Amino acid sequence: MANDASAVSDTRSPQSLADPFTPAADSSLWRKNFLLGAATASYQIEGAVAEDGRLPSIWDTFSATPGKVLAGDTGAVACDHYHRWQEDVDMLAGLGLEGYRLSIAWPRVMGAAGAPNRKGLDFYKRLLARLKEKGITTFVTLYHWDLPQHLEDRGGWPNRDTAYRFADYADLISRELAGSVDAWATLNEPWCSAYLGYGNGHHAPGLADGRFATQAMHHLLLAHGLAVPVLRANDPTSQKGIVANMGRGTANSDSAADQRAAHLFEVQHNAWILDPLLKGAYPRDLFELWPGTEPLVLDGDMQTIAAPLDFLGVNYYFRTNLASDGAHGFTEVPPEGVERTQMGWEVYPDGLRDLLTGFKKTYANLPPIYITENGMASDDKVTDGHVDDTQRIAFLKRHLAAVDQAIKAGVDVRGYFLWSLMDNFEWAFGYERRFGVVHVDYATQKRTIKRSAELVAKFLRERKART
Ligand code: FCB
Repeated sequence: MANDASAVSDTRSPQSLADPFTPAADSSLWRKNFLLGAATASYQIEGAVAEDGRLPSIWDTFSATPGKVLAGDTGAVACDHYHRWQEDVDMLAGLGLEGYRLSIAWPRVMGAAGAPNRKGLDFYKRLLARLKEKGITTFVTLYHWDLPQHLEDRGGWPNRDTAYRFADYADLISRELAGSVDAWATLNEPWCSAYLGYGNGHHAPGLADGRFATQAMHHLLLAHGLAVPVLRANDPTSQKGIVANMGRGTANSDSAADQRAAHLFEVQHNAWILDPLLKGAYPRDLFELWPGTEPLVLDGDMQTIAAPLDFLGVNYYFRTNLASDGAHGFTEVPPEGVERTQMGWEVYPDGLRDLLTGFKKTYANLPPIYITENGMASDDKVTDGHVDDTQRIAFLKRHLAAVDQAIKAGVDVRGYFLWSLMDNFEWAFGYERRFGVVHVDYATQKRTIKRSAELVAKFLRERKART
């Protein structure tokens, strides 16, 4: 048995004992059916924004607006993946990564009147065929934030009609790609789409109104709920799920007020999404926090939203430490002397374990989990053809150990996707923040495998070699 500790220690080479990544001998990560892969998203890597009939998305508009994205960066070229996809798939396969999470650009595959765009569809067909040829398991996200601009012009996610347009898109794409996708995720991180997009304006489309945010969230979740049965009908053998970013909130003290602050933070980040999906209701505390922002919910919506899921994708990056704001809300108290990443995010692997074990307690019907994103940004440089991303290596090892702890505590976690396969367009931070396990030189589009990716590949080779 690959996860039998004694068998593992017998076969481990002295080299692997010394390497800074390889998981502990008794880690569940040694199980061959624990999927280890990497993730990307269409707008962040594809470029070719005006090619082959692709329509503008809200991120084209937003990034072209002065002051919205660091250094005025846009996704116009990004990693030029639209033209270099074969090289990128070969790289993924060369690293021995077993899974690839990608997203489809809605404005690339569907015209404004709903007709299919053949050239855009063909791109994904070729890409998925090549991934299948290489034996890579595919997780395909339908919406990773690139809403067609023409839908934003008609009100975007605060407009209920967008949810129905999303269901049409899900229908088209799952008819076209049936049989070539292992797992479909409807949405990536609805919290970011709703709150950052419509609540504080840090992301496209850049609106800032609490009522828009809660209504956008409702329509995003409704879109998800409408799409799930469509995906089931068109592509019955694949898995269907959703990907959500989950935030760990810790209390700055033992006081009841600070404990409540941490609780409210998690309500606002996690329960806002998970309660509707898994309990069919919004958490009541949410509207104590944001009075007067209750969305308009029509009869039957909550049942639609709570459609059973095959998996839940969890994206995790950092924790937030909180105190009461003295009124009904919370305020952040950043801890001092802790390790942080290029984003300023605290490195806090226990948060991932604690969230996972907490969800298992809270939701009796918690579906199997995939960690669909985890990783960190660092200011990586290529020196003599190498990138020594030491901080990332330790980060990944510690977060995978946290996943193992959650599995040992009884949580059904089936896989983990590194964010990201390669450096890319990091939304409002542009190209400055490097999240990849592969370095991208944006001037030449040269890819350089970082040390972290080499070590992940080495581990996967060792795991594969086990009988
Ligand atoms: C997540 C996004 C992903 C990436 C990481 C760093 O919120 O889903 O696209 O930008 O953060």
